[in-house]
Amino acid sequence: MRLLILGGNSDIALATARVFAREERADVVLASRDMEVLEKRAADIRLRYRVRAESVYFDACDYESHPAFYAGVTPKPDGVVLAFGTYAEQSDVGDDFEKGRQLIDTNFTGAVSILGIVASDFERRGHGFIIGIGSVAGLRGRQSNYLYGASKAGLGVYLAGLRNRLSKCGVHVMTVLPGFVRTKMTEALDLPGALTASPEDVAADIYRGFCKRKNTIYSKWFWRIIMGMIRVTPEPIFKRLTM
Ligand SMILES: NC(=O)c1ccc[n+]([C@@H]2O[C@H](COP(=O)([O-])OP(=O)(O)OC[C@H]3O[C@@H](n4cnc5c(N)ncnc54)[C@H](OP(=O)(O)O)[C@@H]3O)[C@@H](O)[C@H]2O)c1
Repeated sequence: MRLLILGGNSDIALATARVFAREERADVVLASRDMEVLEKRAADIRLRYRVRAESVYFDACDYESHPAFYAGVTPKPDGVVLAFGTYAEQSDVGDDFEKGRQLIDTNFTGAVSILGIVASDFERRGHGFIIGIGSVAGLRGRQSNYLYGASKAGLGVYLAGLRNRLSKCGVHVMTVLPGFVRTKMTEALDLPGALTASPEDVAADIYRGFCKRKNTIYSKWFWRIIMGMIRVTPEPIFKRLTM
């Protein structure tokens, strides 16, 4: 198996790359912006698991570069993990359009740009799988992070549409919905210990979901229950809560 990981420098991505290298003997292509860190991570995977691991420059927001980037990935991957993302608390974004656009440009537009190219290739070959990392934040808008949530909600609907389209040609799309995860993205946040997963927990859930060909997984599992309750809370009550 050959796995392309978009946003290969993400802590969740690295843990996922390691699980696929260990369990599937997968060769991995780590694609991200910080090449120094990326190459170190690729070297570590090569050493630990004796698989091929490459690092390639990729900027999710440089949409024009995406066709050439994907054309340069040879041989073509069997699977793609979309892991890049950027986070901001709503209190830091406010109504500043430029800050909000950064979230949307990366988490949504960047994903649509590169996954459209991947989807065409997988559809033509009748082969492949896509694992897209969304967020439980995309399931209901909350005052604390609704622009981030909106970018992830857009991604979630896009992935669902791709799944619907690509299932006809044997290409599987899995949506991953993590709750709190202890990574560099959240290091400045005060996360509740009992509800917070490690990147390794999420990677294990991703691999389990991949093996079972799940459509959507929550990580950790209890977020399905938490979000089920949050989603059915009537709007007149929900809007009075501070979340
Ligand atoms: N941590 C959580 O609590 C949590 C919860 C729910 C969902 N998620 C989602 O899970 C995914 C992985 O997050 P993480 O926690 O592992 O984050 P992380 O460790 O902070 O990694 C995010 C990575 O995204 C990459 N990235 C950002 N903008 C990019 C761009 N324009 N082009 C290419 N790469 C870009 C960065 O790569 P470079 O370093 O190379 O710039 C960065 O290493 C994200 O989509 C995130 O939204 C995380």
